[in-house]
Amino acid sequence: MKVVAFNGSPRKDGNTAILINYVFRELEKEGLETELVQFSGKKIHGCRACYKCFENKDRRCSVKDDFANECIEKMIDADGIILGSPVYFADVTAEMKALIDRAGFVSLANNGLYKNKVGASVAALRRTGGIHTLDSLNHFFLAGQIIIVGRGIGIGRNIGEVEKDEEGIQMVKTLGQRMAWLLKKLSG
Ligand SMILES: Cc1cc2nc3c(=O)[nH]c(=O)nc-3n(C[C@H](O)[C@H](O)[C@H](O)COP(=O)(O)O)c2cc1C
Repeated sequence: MKVVAFNGSPRKDGNTAILINYVFRELEKEGLETELVQFSGKKIHGCRACYKCFENKDRRCSVKDDFANECIEKMIDADGIILGSPVYFADVTAEMKALIDRAGFVSLANNGLYKNKVGASVAALRRTGGIHTLDSLNHFFLAGQIIIVGRGIGIGRNIGEVEKDEEGIQMVKTLGQRMAWLLKKLSG
């Protein structure tokens, strides 16, 4: 079984990635395979509203000039999906919103590509907007008939600061344990 995580931060290996890696460690302890996809240095843009995905129904976005289809493919292949984002103005980053809109619309056009997979949301922030951000991430799962197992949130501004948030770290460890538990239950 495999879990793929998307880190919507433009900062590679920043606080969001650190939190996701704590989830991964718990999953790996239970024998699950993991893959982290970081958006740093990648190009991804929002939906062009061409509606071609509803005509083509080929499990792909018809706009093939960026990283979106690679992400969609990875989501289709995984058993579990983690969406992670730093909080930017009390919401997800523009890159994460682009993924949500593109991957979400292609799924709707194809009768639910990620239906019954297990989803978890992770957010890193300095002070405010965490709940709203998790809500934005969770709406991707809700719209896609993905089973939400939980969420994690950690506080920090500069890279690595999130490690000092003991409660946040505990939260993402528990999230990893819960995700492994649910994936194993569903596979049995
Ligand atoms: C453009 C921008 C907007 C931000 N907006 C918020 C915000 O609304 N609330 C908050 O608590 N932190 C905000 N932050 C701080 C980041 O969420 C915080 O530094 C986080 O740890 C970054 O995670 P990363 O290292 O994974 O990129 C903002 C940072 C940037 C660059």
